Amino acid sequence: MRLSRMVAAEDFRRAARRRLPRIFFDYIDGGASAEATLAANVADFGRYRLRPQVLRDVAVRRLDADFLGGRHALPLMLGPVGSLGLFRAGAEAASFRAARGVGIPACMSSFAITDPETLLPLAGSGGAFQLYVLKDRERTEAILDRIAACGAESLFVTVDTSVSGIRERDIRNGLRVLSRPGPRMIADFLAHPLWLADMVRVHPVRMALARDWPEAGCGYLAQAAFLAGQIDPSFDERGLAWLRSRWNGRLIVKGILTVKDARRCVDLGADGIVVSNHGGRQLDGVSSSVAALAEIGAALAGRAEILFDGGVRRGGDVVKALALGASACLLGRAYVYGAVAGGEAGVATVLATLRAEIDMTLALMGFASVDELRAAGTNALEVTTGVA
Ligand SMILES: Cc1cc2nc3c(=O)[nH]c(=O)nc-3n(C[C@H](O)[C@H](O)[C@H](O)COP(=O)(O)O)c2cc1C
Repeated sequence: MRLSRMVAAEDFRRAARRRLPRIFFDYIDGGASAEATLAANVADFGRYRLRPQVLRDVAVRRLDADFLGGRHALPLMLGPVGSLGLFRAGAEAASFRAARGVGIPACMSSFAITDPETLLPLAGSGGAFQLYVLKDRERTEAILDRIAACGAESLFVTVDTSVSGIRERDIRNGLRVLSRPGPRMIADFLAHPLWLADMVRVHPVRMALARDWPEAGCGYLAQAAFLAGQIDPSFDERGLAWLRSRWNGRLIVKGILTVKDARRCVDLGADGIVVSNHGGRQLDGVSSSVAALAEIGAALAGRAEILFDGGVRRGGDVVKALALGASACLLGRAYVYGAVAGGEAGVATVLATLRAEIDMTLALMGFASVDELRAAGTNALEVTTGVA
């Protein structure tokens, strides 16, 4: 299907599935354990219904929104996604360029392939870096210095990854033995020639952060495994206080699901949080992101910046998240599928689709702007009990 005919996240998802070997599609698409939280992230948006008002002048509409200390064209940003460059050559820079093209920020992952020196300047204003605090604090500090020099304005510290979630699809597909592929995996690679040609062209792929770490090995897979093993599982409140003292820019804590944790982060000096369960990839069985947002938004609105991710696939989801107290949504899989399917043009098409849906939803709800919607808050919604 041509990009111009793709109108929903599912279209991009199908296109990504066709282009990628199964092992990579499942890595993106899958979640932890029984994938219950993964499914709930999408399904629970159905618990909130939009409450429209008619006879309102919506002839002139504005979709720009305040978040991360700036005014952005849409209440959206690209969230951090590791390994993106393994799914399509140049996909990280392409995604950053597409975000800049529509006037929204993007966040670089610790697991990115593209150097921060290349990627972060592409972000325009609001460039952000996602950090995992490492056991080696000196190395963590060196990362902070490096990304500050590249112009990162906001630091997103991810705190829901003290250990990695168990992702059954990845184990079944043999992700751990990707560097020694068997005949089935090789056949799968050969059956996806567009992806394969891309990877041959960019071989060897390396992880940007590991450039100066000789013991991480050479090659992306070894380096990613090394980095995962370096994430500090003892990172706690004292660690966050240390990070606050060490980072002068905006500090956002990513991976918060309860009011109590949100308050602790703010009390320790964080400027904001991302209500997130890592897209259902970490602890399965926790509440959906949108259900957590409803509680956190009610308790904390106005006290700290509340960003949101998890299951955002449509403009209506974005509108619901804003009504529940988020200042903006981070996109995850929604833009990754676009990047895989069509590089920069693919992400731009995803963003244009979401923009059209947000615009239509606001207009039909009787709001002339994102600011009006946010002021209305939960009055713009009706909460249903149980599932939709
Ligand atoms: C393939 C993939 C890789 C990811 N890598 C990271 C990462 O490196 N750091 C991080 O904080 N979150 C990472 N995430 C989580 C996203 O930032 C985001 O929280 C999640 O995808 C949102 O859910 P959604 O995909 O349903 O929109 C990743 C998600 C996916 C799908």
